[in-house]
Amino acid sequence: MCGIVGAVARRNVVPILLNGLLRLEYRGYDSAGLVVVRDGKLTRVRSIGRVAELEQKSANTHGELGIAHTRWATHGMPSERNAHPHLSCDLIAVVHNGIIENYEALRADLNARGYEFTSDTDTEVIAHLIHSHYAQNSLLVATQMALAQLVGAYAIGVVAADNPHQLIAARKGSPLLLGVGESEHFVASDMSALLQVTKNVVYLEEGDVVEVNLADYRIFDVQGKAVKRAVHVSELNNDSVELGEYQHYMQKEIHEQPQALADTLESVCNSRSMVPGIFGAEANTVFPQVESILILACGTSHHAGMVARYWLEELAGIQCTVEIASEYRYRTSVANPKTLVVTISQSGETADTLAALNHAKQTGHEFTLAICNVPESAIVRQSKLRLMTRAGPEIGVASTKAFTTQLAALFLLTLVLAKLRGRLSSEREQQFLHELRHLPSAVKKVLALEPQIAELSKYFADKHHALFLGRGLHYPIALEGALKLKEISYIHAEAYPAGELKHGPLALVDKDMPVVSVAPNDALLEKLKSNLQEVRARGGELYVFADANTHIKEAEGIHILQMPEHAGYLSPILHTIPLQLLAYYVALQKGTDVDKPRNLAKSVTVE
Ligand code: G6P
Repeated sequence: MCGIVGAVARRNVVPILLNGLLRLEYRGYDSAGLVVVRDGKLTRVRSIGRVAELEQKSANTHGELGIAHTRWATHGMPSERNAHPHLSCDLIAVVHNGIIENYEALRADLNARGYEFTSDTDTEVIAHLIHSHYAQNSLLVATQMALAQLVGAYAIGVVAADNPHQLIAARKGSPLLLGVGESEHFVASDMSALLQVTKNVVYLEEGDVVEVNLADYRIFDVQGKAVKRAVHVSELNNDSVELGEYQHYMQKEIHEQPQALADTLESVCNSRSMVPGIFGAEANTVFPQVESILILACGTSHHAGMVARYWLEELAGIQCTVEIASEYRYRTSVANPKTLVVTISQSGETADTLAALNHAKQTGHEFTLAICNVPESAIVRQSKLRLMTRAGPEIGVASTKAFTTQLAALFLLTLVLAKLRGRLSSEREQQFLHELRHLPSAVKKVLALEPQIAELSKYFADKHHALFLGRGLHYPIALEGALKLKEISYIHAEAYPAGELKHGPLALVDKDMPVVSVAPNDALLEKLKSNLQEVRARGGELYVFADANTHIKEAEGIHILQMPEHAGYLSPILHTIPLQLLAYYVALQKGTDVDKPRNLAKSVTVE
């Protein structure tokens, strides 16, 4: 969702801005733009569509100070006039990520004062507000005064035509970081945009405003007090955000899963037992007090939470509720201070998950745990405990390796709680450790089925609908398979717990509705087989993703993908892989933009 890049340097910053925007493309966008300051003037270039078009249009644009943006439309349709940067009186330029909730009132007021609006965006009010204060104040103070009038979420970058070596940036509710170079400085929505110029980064905190100059920078906190923030050296490297031998990031990320799982499980698999300390020092005092679990997340991360509920209740004997973050945050709920609130988020910046976490804290929950892929993200910083998934950067909008590493992290949580509650014998603990160590190689074996899945995908490309079935632990995996397919191939896909088939979806089953069944060899297999008969009897075409000893035979209308092993409790992780590959190959045949599906964003930083 919207990306920001800004730079002040003693060299032309346009290539830096464009390269940064290319790195942020994965967040999802529909238009792009940049502005540079040169000879007391602002030069703005904007385009709808891809950054490559902006690049062509800005071939003759030069400047040593600039801000740039990829826009994911919220207020006003995707168009050049709504693309950022937005200007006020050819003096102030602003890029913005987030939503200004009181923009209508501000707009009416600014209109009355003679300001003309040229877009439908909420952002334009920020430019005019800053302009209205700039006559009597520095750019920093004018920006601070404008921000004080805003209600909502923002990350912004600001430049002024008559201020050739300074940019102002600020964040509240949307991510932004500062890149520290040698006599040059940068801002960006995330680190991948800045690896081209520096690895030194300052993570701005909620409410921070930063004055960025050539030689130095000054940060002011939410009260306007000058503060020092640590400079971190980013561990990201350019290779991890390069496509390499793969056709798409999604394909690369699917194939990175064995390594991502090995990295996430490293500390545990290298030890002989499971300890609470992997969730942070305070886990030793928090976990023994925990009576129940509340999991909050969105999208794919929510599906990971749904799998965890089965594990936590069965293995750890602990009551668990899983809720969509955007629902929980607006619901009146009853807090139990002995509940551990677990947020799951790849990005750690999803607006609804962050708001749900804060809502939980406000209602009296003190025990909070983040399972997240970005160490310095807001959700991690605002939680008492954390376990980092070590999936590396995930660029494809459709989440893959983040999901399976979240599952691995949640399984560790289950085992640690099971052990604390006296429900894990040391033999069983060793057995699970053994299975976790084996997991990356088990995933590799499933990845080897890629050519067969590519073949199966041919049956889906001309379909308009698909049904996914699963039971128990694998019902959330059916949901995840359906989500992957709809996200990137635009085929309408729905998932049902197979037992619900007769309560509605069976009415839709015919030869044009492929039915994908997640069929592990577990306690519910026989029940699932009956459900599959029900489909077959109505002429439905079945695609069964089976594993070792499932014993379902290939026949007319029944296509089997046989996976080599059955992984017991870890089976949801293995069964996810073929569903990811199926969605990927169907999307390839449909020729969609796999990594940047229409209308979707990677990091949903607005409500
Ligand atoms: C967006 C992404 C999904 C992701 C969801 C939650 O919808 O496209 O892939 O699952 O947000 O994101 P999070 O970063 O909180 O896991």
